[in-house]
Amino acid sequence: MKKMIIANWKMKLGLAESIALGKEYARVLTPETVGDKTVVACPNHVALAALQPVFNGSPVRLGAQNVFWEEAGAYTGEVAPGTLAEAGCTHVIIGHSERRQHLLENYQMIHQKTKAVLADTDMVPVVCIGETLAEREHDKQDYVLADQLQQALGGMRLLDSQQLIIAYEPIWAIGSGKVITPEDAITMHEIIHAVLVDLFGIDAVKNNIAVVYGGSVTRDNAKKFAALDNVDGLLIGGASLDAAEFADIVTAL
Ligand code: PGA
Repeated sequence: MKKMIIANWKMKLGLAESIALGKEYARVLTPETVGDKTVVACPNHVALAALQPVFNGSPVRLGAQNVFWEEAGAYTGEVAPGTLAEAGCTHVIIGHSERRQHLLENYQMIHQKTKAVLADTDMVPVVCIGETLAEREHDKQDYVLADQLQQALGGMRLLDSQQLIIAYEPIWAIGSGKVITPEDAITMHEIIHAVLVDLFGIDAVKNNIAVVYGGSVTRDNAKKFAALDNVDGLLIGGASLDAAEFADIVTAL
């Protein structure tokens, strides 16, 4: 599977700022820089439609940071999967830990969102999992990840043409400057792969599912992760707000 680098701009930029950063991305992320990797930028919902023409003709793809699970209806403030696809999105982040923390999003909702995206669109869901610091201190991380994956994806099937990305983001590593050790990243990705094989079978895991790491990745530590066999890519928050640094991370992978 192609290496994958996803930029999560969170709610850090306004509309004009998002367009300006998008233009920088389109300038520095040339086909030569990107090569055969998949690079996705995820701005806020309002900026999506404006960025579609900016990325047109560049290798950068567009992703959303959230989605709802119904096709249409009385769901004030929500955006349907089909609308995101219409705005040019090829990917969508689902269940980011900041949504789980601040908006009480849970894995039942994450399940419904993932299912709807796969059923209604060609977009690739980027499903986030990860343990808290307390869970890690009590050595519960393996159980937590298995449980999150089961709740998010249990009973789902992927068509041969469909892709799924799992983003492993230990919550204690997000935006904190604390990075997981390469040894721990390998172990956690092994656990995730084992659970995914249980859920989807070995062929789907090999051909249709990527597992990426996220949490305080910068241009200085990206190479460490690039070297790990079972890490298929990276989800970048803070360091994606600087186009030059983000391009360095893309190159490092
Ligand atoms: P960070 O964020 O790179 O700033 O730690 C990653 C994320 O939350 O996706």
